[in-house]
Amino acid sequence: MKNRPVNEMKITLPSLPENEAVARGCVSRFVSCADPTVTELADIRCAVSEAVTNCVVHAYKNAPGPVYINARLYENGRFTVQICDRGCGIPDVALAMTPLYTTDREGERSGMGFAIMQTFSDGLKVSSRVGGGTRVFMEKYLKRQP
Ligand SMILES: Nc1ncnc2c1ncn2[C@@H]1O[C@H](COP(=O)(O)OP(=O)(O)O)[C@@H](O)[C@H]1O
Ligand SMILES: [Mg+2]
Repeated sequence: MKNRPVNEMKITLPSLPENEAVARGCVSRFVSCADPTVTELADIRCAVSEAVTNCVVHAYKNAPGPVYINARLYENGRFTVQICDRGCGIPDVALAMTPLYTTDREGERSGMGFAIMQTFSDGLKVSSRVGGGTRVFMEKYLKRQP
């Protein structure tokens, strides 16, 4: 099959703050199989951190819930990662993706998470349902091909 990934990783972690680093480390190690440049790897680590942090901070308000991560590598250097939660969902995705927009009231968040994911990937898709959860899909084309 043409579109089959050459390698795939699926992990599920509870939305605990410490799992932001675990997720970043796992995805980073996975994508290292495709020999990314230092910059590409840093971009991916940063984008994944932002998406998982959002699951930890915004998706599940009262108790931790599952964060589903699915990373894939394709033959042509295409890398995709999907980060899903079954949390509260986002009422207006376009608004949430506006740079500097945040619903955080403690003043700890910059509102730049989605902007960072956009900048550090070659494609970002976000879909969400209130009460159902959020799906963040990112892709990146790794340039250094054997
Ligand atoms: N997984 C998620 N579940 C629920 N709401 C989210 C999720 N991710 C983002 N949001 C909403 O989108 C807003 C913007 O996200 P982001 O750009 O990462 O900025 P920040 O996290 O700094 O607020 C958040 O303030 C939050 O309201
Ligand atoms: Mg954020």
